[in-house]
Amino acid sequence: DIPNLASTLGTSYDVGAAIDLSALNPQDPHAQLLVKHFNSITAGNFMKIDAMQPREGEFVWSDTDRLVEFAENNNMQVRGHTLVWHSQVPEWFFTSPDDASQPATREQLLARMKTHIQTIMHRYQGKVHTWDVVNEVISDGGGLRNQASGSKWRDIIGDVDGDGDDSDYIELAFRYAREADPNAVLVINDYGLEGSATKLNDMVELVEKLLAKGTPIDAVGFQMHVSMYGPNVKQIREAFERIVALGVNIQVTELDVSIYSGSSEQEKPVTDELMIQQAYRYKELFDLFQEFDQRGVLDSVTVWGLADDGTWLDNHPVQGRKDAPLLFDRKLKAKPAYWALVDTT
Ligand code: XIL
Repeated sequence: DIPNLASTLGTSYDVGAAIDLSALNPQDPHAQLLVKHFNSITAGNFMKIDAMQPREGEFVWSDTDRLVEFAENNNMQVRGHTLVWHSQVPEWFFTSPDDASQPATREQLLARMKTHIQTIMHRYQGKVHTWDVVNEVISDGGGLRNQASGSKWRDIIGDVDGDGDDSDYIELAFRYAREADPNAVLVINDYGLEGSATKLNDMVELVEKLLAKGTPIDAVGFQMHVSMYGPNVKQIREAFERIVALGVNIQVTELDVSIYSGSSEQEKPVTDELMIQQAYRYKELFDLFQEFDQRGVLDSVTVWGLADDGTWLDNHPVQGRKDAPLLFDRKLKAKPAYWALVDTT
């Protein structure tokens, strides 16, 4: 019998995993892995906008109800992922209720955003501990994500109060969220912050500006889809420091460690040697997390999947290429990366 990951780490931050619905079935070995090693859960897909409200006003509660019940029964926290995002959102959100060939107006989209956030947060008040209120609002090329970089939110809502700033939808999303659940931890979540100076600068600037306006942001979420080869610890530490300096906490929300250095690499065999190298990488990352845990500024660390059989990195970003980025292998057996974390000697 192998040691329980979360309690062996003994951190004050939550140790979570993203899951599919099947992992809530007690007969499924994934459920046993989940309950044994983690004290926090995130829905990998079934709490996204398209799953929660596929048609206007038709909320789907069954899956999330199961999740919060499972979490309650097993003494786990729930991270809600995610309320406002440009991806996995149904088209009706952005089209006119009267004429589907026309875009929604600012007022329509704001009303829908408010209803979506508050209906869901009210239902799970006290049951969902933390919410990714907005996800991936910074574009890769710099600035806020817009129509050209795949998001309609900013373009339709724009500058509501006329102060020349177009991040108002983000500010309002957080205000609606705080109004709905004063005790929830509210997160602005994004990828690549630890790897791209532009993206980090944009995030720092945005959060600073929003906080100055009194926007209730509690933490910045680093997705941290990283690789065995980078970014290095020094760079990640510096990125964490920039965020902590703003007076908000950090969360690691979607950690996985790809065995590939980039999308040009061909599929390669998952050798023991590679897995040992990955173990060192996981270890250095969790050592870094510990530094921030000791300062009381790291809320939670979530891995994006229970085991390699369920990783989203299979066929992504390269079709036909399999990855092995998690702590347990395709047969749910503990990998060297797991052992590197629980080995306290
Ligand atoms: C991914 C899921 O893991 C996949 O199953 C799905 O096909 C696409 O989305 N950033 C996020 C997550 O915030 O929601 C994404 O999850 C991975 C990238």
